Amino acid sequence: MSATGTPVGGGPADAVTQVAVVGGGTMGSGIAQAFATAGLEVELVEVEPEYVERALQGIARSLERVARKQEWPADRAPAVLARIHGGTDLAAALRGQLVVEAVNEDFALKRDMFQRLDAFAPPATILASNTSSLSITELAAVTQRPDRVVGMHFMNPVPVMPLVEIVRGLATSDATCARVARLAERLGKTPVEVNDSPGFVSNRILMPMINEACFTLMEGVATKEAIDTVMKLGMNHPLGPLALADLIGLDVCLSIMEVLHEGLGESKYRPCPLLRKMVKAGRLGRKSGRGFYEYPETPAA
Ligand code: 3HC
Repeated sequence: MSATGTPVGGGPADAVTQVAVVGGGTMGSGIAQAFATAGLEVELVEVEPEYVERALQGIARSLERVARKQEWPADRAPAVLARIHGGTDLAAALRGQLVVEAVNEDFALKRDMFQRLDAFAPPATILASNTSSLSITELAAVTQRPDRVVGMHFMNPVPVMPLVEIVRGLATSDATCARVARLAERLGKTPVEVNDSPGFVSNRILMPMINEACFTLMEGVATKEAIDTVMKLGMNHPLGPLALADLIGLDVCLSIMEVLHEGLGESKYRPCPLLRKMVKAGRLGRKSGRGFYEYPETPAA
């Protein structure tokens, strides 16, 4: 659907066969896996060989789960994995007709990455960002191709979440939006187009809920278990907001709240002090072994 409610996608068969994903963290790995599962060749670029290795191992484990659940033939998961070519040379991104940037949620880092990619990627290449809240318009403005810069916001965990929020920057062309929407459909996902605005739609609505859950806990209204149970059983959410914050990463939640607070300028987006305190303490959620809950299977960072 477009931001105005009209369907996107369709059009001429300008099929993308090769993509590059820059950043092999949880999101980048999931995105690479989704493309490779759909039959595309993927260049997965990380900064250090050990990060490449870690990403490929994570993808292999996730593919095992999918293969078991969907009863894939034995040779399918290895074939998917073989389509993902990991490396540390950003020039490999040249081979992608689309580059999806999924580096850390830091504007300066993303801006530098877009400038570098813009300098050497062929003019027709679309540069997409998986940013969860930063401005696509501002990223596009540092390139010479603002019409071919777009947000492709995947949800965590990428292999199971069906949404891709397609974020249209001020200068993003209709053709670019349509092309990435078609691509999302090829991944078996549902693209929904939204306009560039702090937090887009997903995190503009989700993060204040998580932030409010933190205030509710901080004020002693209920225990963490009670808060999560109310939202799970009362609202049919698969995870309670505090457990979801642990899944997303408390540092990510805090930085999105800061973007909302600064970008929209209203006190209702003020990050909860408890959320700040947890981040300062290094309790970042599942990835650090402890957030609102404990995850003994994850080694503490
Ligand atoms: N790779 C492959 N498969 C996975 C997976 C992964 N990383 N994670 C989960 N799965 C599969 C499991 O294999 C499992 O399959 P099964 O049903 O055959 O066993 C299925 O998903 C369900 O997983 P689990 O049984 O382990 O656990 P749950 O039933 O609790 O489901 C969940 C896990 C799908 C993550 C569910 O809890 C959920 O939907 N949670 C909400 C997630 C959500 O809201 N995500 C959005 C976050 S916001 C975001 O991403 C935006 C960002 O900008 C912040």
